[in-house]
Order: sequence, then C-alpha cells, then structure tokens
Amino acid sequence: MLTTAYEGRDCFSYHHRLHSHHLPLSLLLPFCCCCCFWCYNDTAHLEELLKTLDPSIPKIIAFETVYSMSGTIGKVNDICRLAKKYGAITFLDEVHAVGMYGPHGAGVAEHLDFAGNLNRPQNSPVQTVMDQVDIISGTLGKAFGVVGGYIAGSAAMVDVIRSYAPGFIFTTSLPPAIVAGATASIQYLRNSPHERIAQQTNTRTLKAELAALDIPVVPNPSHIVPVLVGDAEVCKAASDELLRSHGIYVQSINYPTVPRGEERLRITPTPGHTDEMMGHLIRSLESVWQRNGLKRTSQWKATGGRAGVVEGAVDPAPIWTEAQLGLSASVLGHLKVVTDAAPQDTLAAQATAQP
Ligand SMILES: Cc1ncc(COP(=O)(O)O)c(C=O)c1O
Repeated sequence: MLTTAYEGRDCFSYHHRLHSHHLPLSLLLPFCCCCCFWCYNDTAHLEELLKTLDPSIPKIIAFETVYSMSGTIGKVNDICRLAKKYGAITFLDEVHAVGMYGPHGAGVAEHLDFAGNLNRPQNSPVQTVMDQVDIISGTLGKAFGVVGGYIAGSAAMVDVIRSYAPGFIFTTSLPPAIVAGATASIQYLRNSPHERIAQQTNTRTLKAELAALDIPVVPNPSHIVPVLVGDAEVCKAASDELLRSHGIYVQSINYPTVPRGEERLRITPTPGHTDEMMGHLIRSLESVWQRNGLKRTSQWKATGGRAGVVEGAVDPAPIWTEAQLGLSASVLGHLKVVTDAAPQDTLAAQATAQP
C-alpha cells in the first residue's frame, strides 16, 4: 500500500469524481504519488483505469457507501471484486452510514449481509462483505452525535496508518469525555434498532409526501432526501426563505459540491422528527415551491430531466427492506413502524425475515 512500506515504489489512489471534497484524504495522500478519478459508480470505467497500471504498482481504491449529496450507494461488492482482480486495496468511507445501516449500525457493508451479521458471533471465521474491505472509515459525529472518527481494518493495516499518516500523528487526540460519550453512543446504537427504523420510516414518509406534491427528489435508496432546485441563486433563496419564513434550516448545496445545474436542498430526516415537524416541513416546502414557481418533478421530466429526476426513472428499492424495518403488511400503507416490540424481538424478526 504505502510508498515507504513498498520500498519506494509509487502508489496510485483511485477516487470517483464526486467525493473528493469529503474523503479524509489526509490519511491516504501521504502514501500516494498519484490520484486517478473514475466516473461515479461506473465500475467499467474504474476497471479501464485499473487495467492501465502495472499489476505490481500498489493501488488504493477509495469510495463511499452512502454518497451524501445524492443519497446513492457505492457498489461495494463490485469494487471489492475489481480490487482483488487488479491487486488494489480498498478504503471505504462509511461516514454517512455508520449508526444508520446494518443490524448493529456498522454501516452499509454490514447491512449487505444483514441476517448473517445479526447473529454472527464476534471473531467468527465466516467471511462477510465487511471482511472484503481493507479499511473502513466512520465518524463519531453525525449518527453517533459526538465528534472525531475512526478507521477499522486488520491490526497490521491500522498499525501502518497509525505509524505513518501525518494527518493522524500531528493532531491532538480525542479528550476522554468525548471518547466516553462516543463509547456510550456506539454501545447504545449497536443494540438498539429503533432509531435506525424510525429514521428510515420518516424518510419513506417524506419521500412519499414530496412525490405526491410533485416536488422533485433525486431518487436514491438511502435516508438522504435531495430536493432538486437546479439553480444556485434560487436554491440559496429557497433555503433563506425556509429559515426566515418557516423557521427551518436546510442547507442549499451548490457548485462545486454538486455539478452546476444540479443545485439542491439536502434534507436528512432523523429518528427524532415528529409527525408534526414532518408536516411543517412538507407544508413549508410546498409554500416555497408555489411562491417562487420552482420546477416540479413533472416539469423536469417534460424538459429532459436533471440529476436522476428523469422520465422513466425507477426509484431504487430502499436499502432497508420492509421486512428489516419490521413494517407489517397491515400498516405498510400508512408507513407505520412496529415500535412496541422490544429491540431484541425486532432483531429476531428481522433475522427470520431477511431475504
Ligand atoms: C463522506 C464524508 N467523509 C468524511 C467526513 C468527515 O467527517 P467528520 O466531519 O466527522 O470528520 C464527511 C463530513 O461531512 C463526509 O461527508
């Protein structure tokens, strides 16, 4: 992997074009002489690039699971397969997934083997998707509500990064109070699926209500709700109006975070949002759309579409299946979650329901 560790040989890192603003590159770049960018989630393009390099040159493929600006999901299995074929190691950023996906909140890679990971004893020799990834990074902010972050990998890999990465070495370590808070938060979320289920249920509700109002949402299978505006000034004005007139803060996302013309309001429902809050948000968005004559889904579709809001687009199935959410058939129409079951009952039901 590393320039130093590999006797001065160069190391290439591969990133998709969209994520370079967020990835904790300070961990990786000291080890790399060159970065290549592949088109987001285009594994054929990634393979083309991998083919051009001598197999003996160390390579890192860096990617995310939940891509925060569109809510789309990285192709973990396909990318790991390519990494193995071309002798690359993988660095997976699960910052927008930890706490929220997987039976224990370890992230999307854990979620991809939901049933197996639910009952898998620690240190089990069974290989799962998580084991295919060389380094997984997560944050202690966002879902865990504290600050800081971590990487997970083999003991040797972690030791190399600990010993060589300037981004890690030349910084103050986390204070004990923060670490205690993070530990409590991880321990709690590891065992409680309720917050994950409530967040996903709120997401389904919000997406369904916005679809009914013809307000354009970039289709995706995750908890991110990117509401397409398509113009930087209008997007900022809509964000300002939501704050000033409705008391709701929603960040406008403009270039260079997203391509020009794909500006959006990025909404992330939490488990703590009540029906009342959700109703207020939906009515406020509708008011902003009406007052400013913002483009509706049908209008985008009629004019060629943008950012995935296109004619004929099929909404991808959510990562959390109905069975995993414990949504019973009789209440699915109302998107109500079974909340009266104890966490362990819910988990046991999920284990048997997982396809
Ligand atoms: C994809 C991604 N990775 C890493 C980070 C950094 O996380 P933190 O702010 O906890 O350091 C962010 C921050 O938003 C992010 O979006």
